[in-house]
Amino acid sequence: MRFGYFDDVNREYVITRPDTPLPWINYLGMRDFFSLISNTAGGYAFYQDARLRRITRYRYNNVPLDMGGRYLYLRDDEGGEFWSPTWMPTRHQAEDYTCRHGMGYTHIGSTYRGIRADVRYFVPLDATLEIWDLTVENLTESPRELSVFSSVEFCLWDAQDDATNFQRNLNIGEVEVHDSVIYHKTEYRERRDHFAYFACSEPLTGFETQREAFLGAYRGWERPQAVERGVTSNSLSVGWSPVGVHHVRLRLAPGEVRRVIFLLGYHENPPDRKFDPPGSHTIDKTTVAPVIGKYLQPGQVDGAFAALRTAWDGLLNVFQVVSPDEHVNRMVNIWNAYQCMITFNLSRSASYFESGIGRGMGFRDSNQDLLGFVHMVPERARERLLDLAATQLEDGGAYHQYQPLTKRGNDSVGSNFNDDPAWLVLSTAAYLKETGDWGILDVPVPYENMPGTETPLLEHLQRCIQYTQDRLGPHGLPLIGRADWNDCLNLNTFSDQPGESFQTTENRNGQVAESTVIAALFILAAKELAEISAHQGLTEESVRLNRLAADMAETVQRSGWDGGWFLRAYDHFGEPVGSQACDEGQIFIEPQGLCTMAGVGLAEGLPYTALDAVHARLTTEHGILLLQPAFTRYHLHLGEITSYPPGFKENASIFCHTNPWVMIAEAILGHTDRALEAYLRINPSQREAISDLHRCEPYVYAQTIAGADSPRFGEAKNSWLTGTAAWNYVAITQWILGIRPDYDGLRIEPVLPTGWEGFSVTRHYRGTTYEIKVQRQGPGNDCVVRVDGQPLEGTLLPQSAKESVAVEVEIG
Ligand code: GLC
Ligand code: GLC
Repeated sequence: MRFGYFDDVNREYVITRPDTPLPWINYLGMRDFFSLISNTAGGYAFYQDARLRRITRYRYNNVPLDMGGRYLYLRDDEGGEFWSPTWMPTRHQAEDYTCRHGMGYTHIGSTYRGIRADVRYFVPLDATLEIWDLTVENLTESPRELSVFSSVEFCLWDAQDDATNFQRNLNIGEVEVHDSVIYHKTEYRERRDHFAYFACSEPLTGFETQREAFLGAYRGWERPQAVERGVTSNSLSVGWSPVGVHHVRLRLAPGEVRRVIFLLGYHENPPDRKFDPPGSHTIDKTTVAPVIGKYLQPGQVDGAFAALRTAWDGLLNVFQVVSPDEHVNRMVNIWNAYQCMITFNLSRSASYFESGIGRGMGFRDSNQDLLGFVHMVPERARERLLDLAATQLEDGGAYHQYQPLTKRGNDSVGSNFNDDPAWLVLSTAAYLKETGDWGILDVPVPYENMPGTETPLLEHLQRCIQYTQDRLGPHGLPLIGRADWNDCLNLNTFSDQPGESFQTTENRNGQVAESTVIAALFILAAKELAEISAHQGLTEESVRLNRLAADMAETVQRSGWDGGWFLRAYDHFGEPVGSQACDEGQIFIEPQGLCTMAGVGLAEGLPYTALDAVHARLTTEHGILLLQPAFTRYHLHLGEITSYPPGFKENASIFCHTNPWVMIAEAILGHTDRALEAYLRINPSQREAISDLHRCEPYVYAQTIAGADSPRFGEAKNSWLTGTAAWNYVAITQWILGIRPDYDGLRIEPVLPTGWEGFSVTRHYRGTTYEIKVQRQGPGNDCVVRVDGQPLEGTLLPQSAKESVAVEVEIG
């Protein structure tokens, strides 16, 4: 069952009923100002850091679901009836409800009692504000007297403190109102140089800034007293809970259309220009006034919206495919790329499952997110790489997370997730392959952000490799530390106390438990660094690194092969994890995909056997399970993974992030159809038809789909902020479609599914547009490539000086 449909021409998902199984959200803003907005206008906004600069308040896990957002009320001032054009919070049955989630904007509208109302919400490029562009139309034959009420509830900046520290916070709220602008300036009198504002393009009949004055005591957003009465009291909030409410009266002739613009913004003043007059507590508005003045003009709003659309055209046009499968086309051309932008911007901080207060930018996560983003805005990828490298520790390890406002490592989470360093090498390699910007390797970057510790980025990468070399266990495999990619495989934790963090508690000394996943990542990273070194003329270093990779591959083959598949780990007692010898958790997905990608035992055929085991034991109709059999009880020595009920999260769900590793592995082995099938099973667009079961948004990936052991098999959770986005993008574009950036050009090695006659791709790469046409000539999967009519030796298109290059690929 569906709750809407894809409009691919406009790059929108159109939701046609408001009561989706869960709030289906979108993101506004690309750089500093970010908003989460649901299909019924729920959600919140923040500046840069979802915890420390929260602009509006949002109550997670609220009842009713998703109550609180950017709400508008329309009131028929003749009869007194009122409703919300976005359904929430009044939940009136309107006609023609639609929510169009697009690239950086959301458009919600409906018709009620002859009044059509549409709101377009978006954040302009390069502005730190959110626009609500409301259009109201009188569809009836008679004139109508209407009131419009806007509403936001301000957050007192630190979202964590805001939700807990009431003894202070109920005393500190402060606002100002000038003309049609409400300023939220809590703490501006002392240590903050920033304030929020809520502006309206129309003269006001009245306003409210005190929550209780607007809602009335003991009432909620669904029936505010001021709206019910049609009268506002011009309350000025001092303490309690500041809100922003505008009251505007509209008289609409039959057929008349009116536009009202609201701006919710964030602004910083220079510290010496905070007050006007100096010495007062009144905000100096001279720097913000031009911004407000600009965006309250309809022409400017339309211009900003057009600029946003154009920017997205450019971002998405870097890679466009026309294939026989609409789900491939739609996800690659639109939604998967879009999700990659969102994960790059927000890591795992703020979604409807990540509350924005718990987690900063993950080191492992951000490096992976970059893999699916780097082709869109390489300059930002470069900046991110340097930021990440600057949080690296001198021993090559890394802070597991950093805070976006300060770019400092997060002490409370710390380090010793032993896979972290490898990801920095892999993301830097991806950046070099996309851009050829070798100069980045020479950039001096500090360790732990400490001035004076700078070394060239290249040395950071060398220390990443050394970090693993310095931490090998009894079998010669890498020690796992607190966890590897799988945060929940905690082999040194041994936690029996409620509330202890599985990731940061260490009750064992950690010199025994080893990980084949880190081994595979190490091989991949060492090989990349070997190529990078060769490119830099460091021949000996390159040879050395290749030897390290080969040695590790041998070690995995010797001590990490279980007979039918790759082992997952050795535990604290030196016993195998993910082995036929175990009674639960016999086979894990991660090493099967990653060791195949790393080429372990390829000559001996091990990956073929491993992937057959994945196919036989882990593959389901909804995707590939993380492990089998699921853990049915808590195993002290395995940690959090065994804390989840069977079929959920790391305990045998379809953990979507891992599936693309198998897709890539299948593609490497030439299993064309298995690769595509694995891709399509978890493809959100393909799953749209079962939205009632899947329940999360059908346009983005979720972290997990409940596994076969769970009573909710097939139900997704934790949509949006997951490494699934980047890895699926890599799997489909680089390995199945096979258009893969390499150090010296674009590699073309499609793995054509047997049912496909071909496909075409437009790829902008290092200044050249490649028009690539792939056609099947025979049943095999060998490639013959012609460039502008000339046969190419091999499959690597060298960098071109031309503006455009025609590439024909024959598969057979
Ligand atoms: C979450 C984390 C990611 C981790 C994964 C598996 O998605 O953000 O870092 O790799 O879970 O535990
Ligand atoms: C939990 C989750 C895991 C996530 C981790 C982050 O353990 O199961 O997916 O990566 O928290 O701390």
